[in-house]
Amino acid sequence: MRVLIFWDIYGRVWRNAFKKHFLDIKNKYNPDFTIVNPENISSWRWPVMKHIKEIDSLWIDVYTSGNHIYDNYNDIKDYLDAPNSKLIRPANFYESEHVYFPGKWYKILEKDGKKLLVINLMSSTFLRDEMYNAFLKVDEMLKGMNLDEFNWIIIDFHRETTSEIYAMSMFLEGKVSFVYGTHTHIQTNDELILPGWTWLLTDVWMNGPLYSVIWADFEGIKSRFLSWVLTWKIDQALWKDYVVSACVVDIDEKTRKCLNIEKIRIRGSL
Ligand SMILES: [Fe+2]
Repeated sequence: MRVLIFWDIYGRVWRNAFKKHFLDIKNKYNPDFTIVNPENISSWRWPVMKHIKEIDSLWIDVYTSGNHIYDNYNDIKDYLDAPNSKLIRPANFYESEHVYFPGKWYKILEKDGKKLLVINLMSSTFLRDEMYNAFLKVDEMLKGMNLDEFNWIIIDFHRETTSEIYAMSMFLEGKVSFVYGTHTHIQTNDELILPGWTWLLTDVWMNGPLYSVIWADFEGIKSRFLSWVLTWKIDQALWKDYVVSACVVDIDEKTRKCLNIEKIRIRGSL
């Protein structure tokens, strides 16, 4: 079974560069499922529905997300709660009788009688102090599920630090097929299979402007690095030069073991 995963689709670039390459990549690798994290699809704020609808015209099975999931709360909440919504949100918000968080934290995909479970988590470290501990939450969740029901389990762990991907992968070693990180928009060359057969990959980059700081134009955010001043006029970097990145994961459907990971990196100019 083959899964194609795109990290962090950013701003206007996806509408141009991503669309330009998506079908070629899909046709070349012929995946069974496609996962996309479009949390920045409407630039640096979480997408508005018109962009979700626009990307939905492509062949994508599930959207994961992260810290911007509720930035356009009123616009997105109904779709998050829709019965067949493809969009999932991090599992470990502090849910209580006082606060309701729209959306599901997982998506089950089925094909030919085989099931893929996709889970979304988010760290509290340098991101959202108010998140419930992601390790404890996923442990609670998996203990409440019949894991034998699934042929593959994949986790998008939205976080800032590299160590958390390794820690989470080892925490879930032998239970899930693949743990990968989103949010940092930095390519890592560390795809690794643990002795207990779980694979990890810290980050595969983004689909966004190539000459940028994560995605932002340097001049617009320079003051953040040179002083304490926060510049709220953050501009997208020029998007003529772009990077499109993804990875292809092959998973044994009988053993749940991840067999191979191939990173895709395309740099181009519009
Ligand atoms: Fe993020």
